[in-house]
Amino acid sequence: MTHLDERVELLRHAALFSDCTDDELSRIAGLATPRDAAVGERLCTEGAPGDDFFVVVDGAAEASVSGKKVGELGAGSFFGEMALIDGGDRTATVTATSPMQLLVLSRNDFNSMLSTSMPTVAPKLLEVVAQRMHELHIEAGVPFDY
Ligand code: CMP
Repeated sequence: MTHLDERVELLRHAALFSDCTDDELSRIAGLATPRDAAVGERLCTEGAPGDDFFVVVDGAAEASVSGKKVGELGAGSFFGEMALIDGGDRTATVTATSPMQLLVLSRNDFNSMLSTSMPTVAPKLLEVVAQRMHELHIEAGVPFDY
């Protein structure tokens, strides 16, 4: 997963990037670093700071809050966006449930990606973030009525 063209093709299959142009994909691929994760590896820790955004190329992970599963993350999905958007701590713990191949963007690169591809990526990102916040509120027993 080291070649730019290969990373472009991997990103193209992620729903978040499905409307990006080739030029946008190529710029995002240029920012991404490949990373593997083993089963059981913890990629985000609830309540801890975090500086990376992850795109799942292959494999799966579980998001949990206070030890309770709140979501599953499979190929083509992403995680780690929340702490980068609001500057707060990780909202959940994310643990690999199978061997994983990931593409990772640092905080700076995540921000560059958004400024590069704002109109195509931002609405999709926001939709997922809103859904996850809803699920986190439900998990915490907080009514979502504001
Ligand atoms: P962040 O808070 O940065 O780190 C933990 C990540 O877990 C979070 O970003 C989301 O990407 C992810 N996450 C939080 N809640 C859920 C959920 N309900 N389903 C799937 N992923 C989630």
